[in-house]
Amino acid sequence: MGLRQRIFEVLEHGRRREPASRAADWLLVVLVLADVAATVAHTVPDIAASHGTGLQLLDRVCVAVFAIEYAARMWTAPEHPLLHRRTPLGARLRFAATPLMVIDALALLPLALELLFPRNELILLTRLVRFLKLARYSPALATIGRLIASERRALLACVIIFIGALLMAAAAMLVVEGSVQPDKLGDMPKAMWWAASMLAKIGGGDLAPPLTTLGRIIAAITVMLGIGCFALPVAIIGRGFYEEIRRRDFVVTFAMVARVPLFARLDAAAIADLVAILKARTVPSGTTIIRKGDRGDAMYLIASGRVEVESAVGKVVLQEGEFFGEMALLSREPRSATVTTIRSTDLLVLDADDFLRLVDRLPDIGAKVRAVAKDRRPAAAPAAAGNARVGDDGTRT
Ligand code: CMP
Repeated sequence: MGLRQRIFEVLEHGRRREPASRAADWLLVVLVLADVAATVAHTVPDIAASHGTGLQLLDRVCVAVFAIEYAARMWTAPEHPLLHRRTPLGARLRFAATPLMVIDALALLPLALELLFPRNELILLTRLVRFLKLARYSPALATIGRLIASERRALLACVIIFIGALLMAAAAMLVVEGSVQPDKLGDMPKAMWWAASMLAKIGGGDLAPPLTTLGRIIAAITVMLGIGCFALPVAIIGRGFYEEIRRRDFVVTFAMVARVPLFARLDAAAIADLVAILKARTVPSGTTIIRKGDRGDAMYLIASGRVEVESAVGKVVLQEGEFFGEMALLSREPRSATVTTIRSTDLLVLDADDFLRLVDRLPDIGAKVRAVAKDRRPAAAPAAAGNARVGDDGTRT
């Protein structure tokens, strides 16, 4: 593996369990937190007076590391599976426009601002943007982003309901109390501010209390509508988030799927489709995933780790990049062997329905899976290519 590809693997954490990748992630997370803490501390005059130089130095070190990180990410961009087909410059430009890289670039902006306009208040704000760099390390945050995208129609409906409630409440209040409290409810913008505050229940000191009975009734209804308006999107996101977290033990990334040899020749769009349908499962060592004789309901791809198949021809070890559980789905017969993890293993799971649709839609993949399944069948097993048999002492033969 070349240096560029190696650095790409480490930085883009293709292999979750790799120590170098984890160390790089942790270093960057600690530096982001330290830099943000130093920026906040620097705004306190006493601390700035006593530790100003130290905090400044810490900031410089963090920025230097972030700059090296940015340069390394840009340099290794052509290794990205999605950008493989572009020229190196094209790949880098495309990569620089991805949201996480834009955040990384913004994180370096304060340095340029400081050099150009020393003592600019903007610097504080832009320095705190560095906190967003943590988005890269939070799969849960990525999940929320995906959820908002997938529930956008439902969420848009919530926004429309909110605006409708706001306009109705504001108009009703304007009609009923506009002449009673003209300074606070005399026109639509004022009444809308009142209605928004009531809906969000953030009434501050200047919020006009209704003076008429009808006004109080409208206020009470507005508060109740507000509860519904906020409960609805919270419930939509909350339910989706819970389901997603329960379904996925880790986030399936594009790089993870693109690295599976079976999918090596797929184009970016097909891989993106797979990312959406594959589910992730982390399984501890010694867990039986498939039991001989059971009904087949899914096929599994090994993202990292190892499993042992107790097949008719003896024990076979399958490792990263290989797959299992395809035979029962293709033949619609019971599982032909028991499969157990012999290491903590990350699996990509393809449900039976999705699997059958996939082999239907992508005949090349279907042919490859069928060929492997054929080799694995007991009669043909001795000729099985690519699978290592293990003896009783556990060595691969
Ligand atoms: P399936 O029969 O669905 O469930 C058990 C799985 O073990 C099977 O699919 C294959 O994926 C795998 N398997 C069975 N026999 C072998 C073998 N000889 N070599 C490798 N894998 C096997």
